[in-house]
Amino acid sequence: MNILVTGANGQLGNEMQLVAKDSKDNYIFTDVCDGYEKLDITCLDEIRKVVKKNNVKCIINCAAWTNVDKAETAGDIVETLNATAPENLAKAMKEADGLLVHVSTDYVFGGDPYNTPCKEDQKGTPTGVYGLTKLHGEERIQAVGVNHIILRTAWLYSEFGHNFVKTMMNLTATKPQLKVVFDQCGTPTYAGDLANAIFDIVENRKYEGKSGIYHFSNEAYAAGMTSPLR
Ligand SMILES: NC(=O)c1ccc[n+]([C@@H]2O[C@H](COP(=O)([O-])OP(=O)(O)OC[C@H]3O[C@@H](n4cnc5c(N)ncnc54)[C@H](OP(=O)(O)O)[C@@H]3O)[C@@H](O)[C@H]2O)c1
Repeated sequence: MNILVTGANGQLGNEMQLVAKDSKDNYIFTDVCDGYEKLDITCLDEIRKVVKKNNVKCIINCAAWTNVDKAETAGDIVETLNATAPENLAKAMKEADGLLVHVSTDYVFGGDPYNTPCKEDQKGTPTGVYGLTKLHGEERIQAVGVNHIILRTAWLYSEFGHNFVKTMMNLTATKPQLKVVFDQCGTPTYAGDLANAIFDIVENRKYEGKSGIYHFSNEAYAAGMTSPLR
Protein backbone atom coordinates (compact mmCIF):
# COMPACT_ATOMS: atom_id res chain seq x y z
CA MET A 1 0.00 0.00 0.00
CA ASN A 2 1.20 3.52 -0.77
CA ILE A 3 1.02 5.72 2.33
CA LEU A 4 1.51 9.47 2.32
CA VAL A 5 2.72 11.27 5.46
CA THR A 6 2.14 15.03 5.74
CA GLY A 7 4.18 17.33 7.99
CA ALA A 8 7.10 14.88 7.78
CA ASN A 9 9.56 17.45 9.11
CA GLY A 10 7.71 17.91 12.41
CA GLN A 11 8.12 16.00 15.68
CA LEU A 12 5.69 13.21 14.85
CA GLY A 13 6.59 13.24 11.14
CA ASN A 14 10.25 12.57 11.96
CA GLU A 15 9.29 9.74 14.31
CA MET A 16 7.09 8.27 11.54
CA GLN A 17 10.14 8.26 9.26
CA LEU A 18 12.05 6.19 11.83
CA VAL A 19 9.32 3.59 12.49
CA ALA A 20 8.42 3.20 8.79
CA LYS A 21 11.95 2.14 7.81
CA ASP A 22 11.17 -1.58 7.96
CA SER A 23 7.66 -1.40 6.55
CA LYS A 24 6.26 -3.68 3.90
CA ASP A 25 4.30 -0.62 2.70
CA ASN A 26 5.66 2.24 0.59
CA TYR A 27 5.85 5.57 2.46
CA ILE A 28 5.93 8.99 0.77
CA PHE A 29 7.05 11.74 3.15
CA THR A 30 5.83 15.25 2.37
CA ASP A 31 6.06 18.72 3.88
CA VAL A 32 6.16 22.35 2.84
CA CYS A 33 9.92 22.61 3.33
CA ASP A 34 12.84 21.37 1.23
CA GLY A 35 14.04 17.79 1.65
CA TYR A 36 10.62 16.17 1.15
CA GLU A 37 8.10 15.82 -1.64
CA LYS A 38 6.40 19.23 -1.51
CA LEU A 39 2.78 19.19 -0.36
CA ASP A 40 0.82 22.08 1.10
CA ILE A 41 -2.24 20.45 2.64
CA THR A 42 -4.27 23.66 2.45
CA CYS A 43 -4.50 23.13 -1.34
CA LEU A 44 -6.99 20.40 -2.31
CA ASP A 45 -5.88 20.31 -5.97
CA GLU A 46 -2.28 19.76 -4.92
CA ILE A 47 -3.33 16.89 -2.63
CA ARG A 48 -5.43 15.29 -5.38
CA LYS A 49 -2.46 15.44 -7.79
CA VAL A 50 -0.02 13.82 -5.35
CA VAL A 51 -2.56 11.15 -4.38
CA LYS A 52 -3.25 10.29 -8.01
CA LYS A 53 0.40 10.33 -9.08
CA ASN A 54 1.42 7.97 -6.26
CA ASN A 55 -1.78 5.88 -6.06
CA VAL A 56 -2.03 6.76 -2.36
CA LYS A 57 -4.43 4.61 -0.31
CA CYS A 58 -3.67 6.03 3.13
CA ILE A 59 -2.73 9.48 4.43
CA ILE A 60 -1.19 9.97 7.87
CA ASN A 61 -1.67 13.64 8.73
CA CYS A 62 1.15 14.89 10.97
CA ALA A 63 0.82 18.51 9.77
CA ALA A 64 -0.99 21.17 11.76
CA TRP A 65 -0.76 24.61 13.29
CA THR A 66 0.70 23.61 16.67
CA ASN A 67 1.71 26.90 18.31
CA VAL A 68 -1.05 27.17 20.91
CA ASP A 69 -0.23 30.71 22.10
CA LYS A 70 0.30 32.24 18.66
CA ALA A 71 -2.95 30.64 17.43
CA GLU A 72 -4.84 33.27 19.42
CA THR A 73 -3.63 36.08 17.17
CA ALA A 74 -2.54 34.39 13.92
CA GLY A 75 -5.90 34.78 12.16
CA ASP A 76 -7.57 32.57 9.52
CA ILE A 77 -4.51 30.41 8.84
CA VAL A 78 -5.11 28.42 12.05
CA GLU A 79 -8.62 27.32 10.97
CA THR A 80 -7.35 26.73 7.43
CA LEU A 81 -4.54 24.46 8.57
CA ASN A 82 -6.33 22.67 11.43
CA ALA A 83 -9.82 22.30 9.94
CA THR A 84 -10.00 22.98 6.18
CA ALA A 85 -6.77 21.08 5.42
CA PRO A 86 -7.83 17.85 7.22
CA GLU A 87 -11.15 18.13 5.36
CA ASN A 88 -9.15 18.38 2.10
CA LEU A 89 -7.22 15.22 3.02
CA ALA A 90 -10.49 13.48 3.93
CA LYS A 91 -12.02 14.38 0.56
CA ALA A 92 -8.95 13.10 -1.32
CA MET A 93 -9.02 9.80 0.57
CA LYS A 94 -12.79 9.43 0.15
CA GLU A 95 -12.33 9.83 -3.62
CA ALA A 96 -9.51 7.24 -3.57
CA ASP A 97 -11.48 4.88 -1.27
CA GLY A 98 -8.60 5.14 1.19
CA LEU A 99 -7.97 5.80 4.87
CA LEU A 100 -7.14 9.04 6.70
CA VAL A 101 -5.21 8.80 9.96
CA HIS A 102 -5.42 12.18 11.66
CA VAL A 103 -3.89 13.44 14.90
CA SER A 104 -5.86 15.64 17.25
CA THR A 105 -5.36 16.91 20.76
CA ASP A 106 -6.52 17.05 24.37
CA TYR A 107 -7.03 20.80 23.76
CA VAL A 108 -10.44 19.92 22.28
CA PHE A 109 -11.31 19.71 25.98
CA GLY A 110 -10.24 22.39 28.41
CA GLY A 111 -13.43 23.81 29.81
CA ASP A 112 -15.46 21.79 32.31
CA PRO A 113 -14.65 19.08 33.26
CA TYR A 114 -10.92 19.74 33.09
CA ASN A 115 -9.14 17.93 35.88
CA THR A 116 -10.76 14.56 35.29
CA PRO A 117 -9.95 12.14 32.46
CA CYS A 118 -12.09 12.65 29.36
CA LYS A 119 -13.55 9.89 27.20
CA GLU A 120 -13.68 9.81 23.42
CA ASP A 121 -17.42 10.50 23.20
CA GLN A 122 -17.33 13.42 25.62
CA LYS A 123 -18.44 16.75 24.16
CA GLY A 124 -15.57 19.03 23.12
CA THR A 125 -15.16 22.10 25.32
CA PRO A 126 -12.21 24.00 23.85
CA THR A 127 -11.23 27.27 25.45
CA GLY A 128 -8.82 28.61 22.82
CA VAL A 129 -8.37 28.95 19.07
CA TYR A 130 -6.02 25.95 18.75
CA GLY A 131 -8.43 23.54 20.50
CA LEU A 132 -11.46 24.94 18.68
CA THR A 133 -9.86 24.63 15.24
CA LYS A 134 -8.63 21.10 16.00
CA LEU A 135 -12.19 20.17 17.07
CA HIS A 136 -13.49 21.62 13.79
CA GLY A 137 -10.92 19.46 11.97
CA GLU A 138 -12.30 16.31 13.62
CA GLU A 139 -15.88 17.31 12.78
CA ARG A 140 -15.09 18.10 9.15
CA ILE A 141 -13.29 14.78 8.61
CA GLN A 142 -16.27 12.92 10.03
CA ALA A 143 -18.70 14.93 7.89
CA VAL A 144 -16.87 13.84 4.71
CA GLY A 145 -17.62 10.21 5.59
CA VAL A 146 -14.13 8.92 4.77
CA ASN A 147 -12.65 5.87 6.50
CA HIS A 148 -10.76 7.53 9.31
CA ILE A 149 -8.85 7.02 12.52
CA ILE A 150 -8.57 10.17 14.63
CA LEU A 151 -6.05 9.85 17.46
CA ARG A 152 -6.21 12.50 20.16
CA THR A 153 -2.93 12.83 21.99
CA ALA A 154 -1.30 15.20 24.46
CA TRP A 155 1.94 17.11 25.14
CA LEU A 156 4.08 15.43 22.50
CA TYR A 157 7.81 15.39 23.01
CA SER A 158 10.70 13.91 21.04
CA GLU A 159 14.26 14.68 20.08
CA PHE A 160 12.89 16.58 17.05
CA GLY A 161 11.37 20.06 16.92
CA HIS A 162 10.20 22.17 19.84
CA ASN A 163 8.52 20.81 22.93
CA PHE A 164 8.03 21.39 26.65
CA VAL A 165 10.60 18.79 27.71
CA LYS A 166 13.37 20.32 25.57
CA THR A 167 12.51 23.81 26.81
CA MET A 168 12.77 22.67 30.45
CA MET A 169 16.05 20.81 29.79
CA ASN A 170 17.57 23.89 28.17
CA LEU A 171 16.41 26.09 31.05
CA THR A 172 17.77 23.76 33.73
CA ALA A 173 21.14 23.79 31.96
CA THR A 174 21.37 27.57 32.24
CA LYS A 175 19.40 28.62 35.35
CA PRO A 176 19.99 27.64 39.00
CA GLN A 177 16.26 27.83 39.79
CA LEU A 178 13.12 27.68 37.65
CA LYS A 179 9.72 29.27 38.17
CA VAL A 180 7.01 27.38 36.30
CA VAL A 181 3.28 28.13 36.11
CA PHE A 182 1.03 25.53 37.70
CA ASP A 183 -2.16 26.22 35.80
CA GLN A 184 -2.08 23.34 33.32
CA CYS A 185 -1.99 19.59 33.54
CA GLY A 186 -1.30 17.01 30.87
CA THR A 187 0.10 13.63 29.96
CA PRO A 188 3.48 14.05 28.27
CA THR A 189 3.52 11.56 25.41
CA TYR A 190 6.60 10.36 23.57
CA ALA A 191 6.04 11.02 19.85
CA GLY A 192 7.93 7.79 19.06
CA ASP A 193 5.28 5.80 20.96
CA LEU A 194 2.50 7.52 19.05
CA ALA A 195 4.32 6.88 15.75
CA ASN A 196 4.62 3.20 16.68
CA ALA A 197 0.89 3.01 17.47
CA ILE A 198 0.02 4.62 14.12
CA PHE A 199 2.43 2.28 12.35
CA ASP A 200 0.86 -0.75 14.05
CA ILE A 201 -2.66 0.35 13.08
CA VAL A 202 -1.71 0.90 9.45
CA GLU A 203 0.86 -1.89 8.91
CA ASN A 204 -1.37 -4.53 10.50
CA ARG A 205 -4.56 -3.17 8.91
CA LYS A 206 -6.21 -2.72 12.30
CA TYR A 207 -8.41 0.09 10.99
CA GLU A 208 -10.88 -1.94 8.97
CA GLY A 209 -14.42 -1.19 10.20
CA LYS A 210 -12.97 0.86 13.05
CA SER A 211 -13.53 4.46 11.89
CA GLY A 212 -13.74 6.83 14.83
CA ILE A 213 -11.97 8.87 17.48
CA TYR A 214 -9.47 7.29 19.86
CA HIS A 215 -7.36 8.63 22.72
CA PHE A 216 -3.65 7.85 22.85
CA SER A 217 -1.24 9.11 25.49
CA ASN A 218 1.48 7.73 27.70
CA GLU A 219 0.55 7.02 31.30
CA ALA A 220 0.92 9.34 34.30
CA TYR A 221 0.58 13.08 34.28
CA ALA A 222 2.53 16.26 34.85
CA ALA A 223 1.86 19.40 36.90
CA GLY A 224 0.27 17.42 39.73
CA MET A 225 -3.18 16.87 38.31
CA THR A 226 -5.00 14.11 36.52
CA SER A 227 -4.69 13.23 32.85
CA PRO A 228 -7.22 14.90 30.56
CA LEU A 229 -7.29 11.84 28.29
CA ARG A 230 -8.40 8.36 29.17
N1 LIG B 1 3.06 19.10 19.88
C1 LIG B 1 2.20 18.71 20.80
O1 LIG B 1 2.43 18.84 22.01
C2 LIG B 1 0.89 18.06 20.40
C3 LIG B 1 -0.01 17.64 21.40
C4 LIG B 1 -1.20 17.05 21.02
C5 LIG B 1 -1.49 16.87 19.67
N2 LIG B 1 -0.62 17.30 18.73
C6 LIG B 1 -0.95 17.10 17.32
O2 LIG B 1 -0.02 16.16 16.81
C7 LIG B 1 0.22 16.45 15.43
C8 LIG B 1 1.73 16.52 15.20
O3 LIG B 1 2.28 17.53 16.05
P1 LIG B 1 3.84 17.91 15.99
O4 LIG B 1 4.21 18.42 17.33
O5 LIG B 1 4.60 16.79 15.39
O6 LIG B 1 3.78 19.15 14.98
P2 LIG B 1 4.99 20.03 14.43
O7 LIG B 1 6.28 19.57 14.99
O8 LIG B 1 4.59 21.46 14.59
O9 LIG B 1 5.00 19.66 12.87
C9 LIG B 1 4.01 20.11 11.99
C10 LIG B 1 4.59 20.05 10.60
O10 LIG B 1 3.57 20.48 9.66
C11 LIG B 1 4.20 21.34 8.71
N3 LIG B 1 3.24 22.21 8.03
C12 LIG B 1 2.88 23.47 8.37
N4 LIG B 1 2.03 23.97 7.46
C13 LIG B 1 1.85 23.01 6.52
C14 LIG B 1 1.09 22.93 5.34
N5 LIG B 1 0.33 23.95 4.91
N6 LIG B 1 1.13 21.79 4.61
C15 LIG B 1 1.91 20.75 5.01
N7 LIG B 1 2.65 20.77 6.13
C16 LIG B 1 2.62 21.89 6.89
C17 LIG B 1 5.19 22.13 9.57
O11 LIG B 1 6.12 22.80 8.78
P3 LIG B 1 6.77 24.19 9.35
O12 LIG B 1 7.46 23.84 10.62
O13 LIG B 1 7.68 24.60 8.24
O14 LIG B 1 5.61 25.13 9.56
C18 LIG B 1 5.79 21.00 10.40
O15 LIG B 1 6.84 20.34 9.71
C19 LIG B 1 -0.56 17.74 15.13
O16 LIG B 1 -1.80 17.41 14.56
C20 LIG B 1 -0.81 18.35 16.49
O17 LIG B 1 -1.96 19.15 16.52
C21 LIG B 1 0.58 17.88 19.06
